[in-house]
Amino acid sequence: MQDTLPNPLNDVEVARLRADFPILGRSINGAPLTYLDSGATSQKPSCVYEAEQHFYENFNAAVHRGAHSLAVEATDIFEQARTTVAEFIGAKDNEVVWTSNATEALNLVTYSFGNASAGLGGDAAKRFALGVGDEIVVTELEHHANLIPWQQLAQRTGATLKYIPVDESGALRMDLAGDIITPATRILAFTHVSNVLGTVNDVAALVALARNVGALTVLDGCQSVPHLPVDVKSLDVDFMAFSGHKMLGPTGIGGLYGRAELLDAMPPFLTGGSMITSVSMESAQFLPSPMRFEAGTQRISQVHGLATAVSYLREVGMERIAGWEEYLGERMLTGLSSIDGVRVLGPGLGAARIGTAPFIIEGVHPHDVGQFLDSRGVAVRVGHHCAQPLHRALGVVSSTRASTYLYNTTSDIDALLNAVADVRGYFGVGK
Ligand SMILES: Cc1ncc(COP(=O)(O)O)c(C=O)c1O
Repeated sequence: MQDTLPNPLNDVEVARLRADFPILGRSINGAPLTYLDSGATSQKPSCVYEAEQHFYENFNAAVHRGAHSLAVEATDIFEQARTTVAEFIGAKDNEVVWTSNATEALNLVTYSFGNASAGLGGDAAKRFALGVGDEIVVTELEHHANLIPWQQLAQRTGATLKYIPVDESGALRMDLAGDIITPATRILAFTHVSNVLGTVNDVAALVALARNVGALTVLDGCQSVPHLPVDVKSLDVDFMAFSGHKMLGPTGIGGLYGRAELLDAMPPFLTGGSMITSVSMESAQFLPSPMRFEAGTQRISQVHGLATAVSYLREVGMERIAGWEEYLGERMLTGLSSIDGVRVLGPGLGAARIGTAPFIIEGVHPHDVGQFLDSRGVAVRVGHHCAQPLHRALGVVSSTRASTYLYNTTSDIDALLNAVADVRGYFGVGK
């Protein structure tokens, strides 16, 4: 994709962007920082935390409460941020609910469905109620955040949890999906992009299978929204979770996209102030979405910071970011595959993926790999990456994962490759 774009990103332009990320100028253990752990959390451009500071210095007040000017201005900033983020993913304003992170967004859906299953929410919520005989389908690729909440929901309701397995390379067994998704399937929850392998799932095919049996679709957009152009309406999913801190935004803020007609019919997850129309000592009536799901004082500066991050991403251009990461990813995968003793996990180069490379080095534990790379200033993630079932399916306990973002350069990839090439020698393995 990189070469076919009219105006692709390149190292010179990325060097200019890097000036917006002061932390990238740091040195670690005497070497320049090579940050290849954006899959865990991204670095932030200074405009993001300056926006938060500007908010606190000029507008700080609780939103949707009080008639004083600061409260009105803070509410405008809060709701303008919702519009910015909604536009970014192709949603309407009332279809974006603020949460702490993607984990909370996914729990919101499962707890709401659990409440519907317990009879809360009246007739409108009956369509979300699950019970014995109903099926929830996930995939073997899932991050624990899109697996455990569904396990818990199945346990609470008596529904059955099924999954679409991966093959030995980690590719989703789409050939089996049509049999696993049946007329009893009520929910299909799956990740857009694997956080371990970086591979992009065929959303259209999976959504078509779900629609065919009338199941709702829940997409984990944690690793796609930061890296690829994502439009929820063309993806045609019912829900999508995302995390702000992985897309240049602050920690503590994420979101749930949901079709308005679904969100408005779902029972609330958290209850309390700011989400009601009327309350008696016995019961309460709830506002429509999104406030129905935004109980209590909100994360106002974080929301503003996230909207600033989104504006930054839009200015650079999501197509260009995706193209650049495709280039970096290919360089990383090709380079790693050519190093003796390195096994790259996941399907080969032809698969659609973001700039993420998981690998193991024969004879060296990933934690040792991580520490050695750190001694060269290279920051990567090691462990099971909150995806134990996937690692098990790949026949490994843990792995090392290098993951890129728009601010990585060709030299970052080369620093990784040079350091990886020295690992086995350092540990005296394979001599
Ligand atoms: C695919 C995927 N889903 C969900 C999550 C959970 O995100 P958070 O910890 O921000 O809630 C992550 C984080 O790594 C992820 O990569």
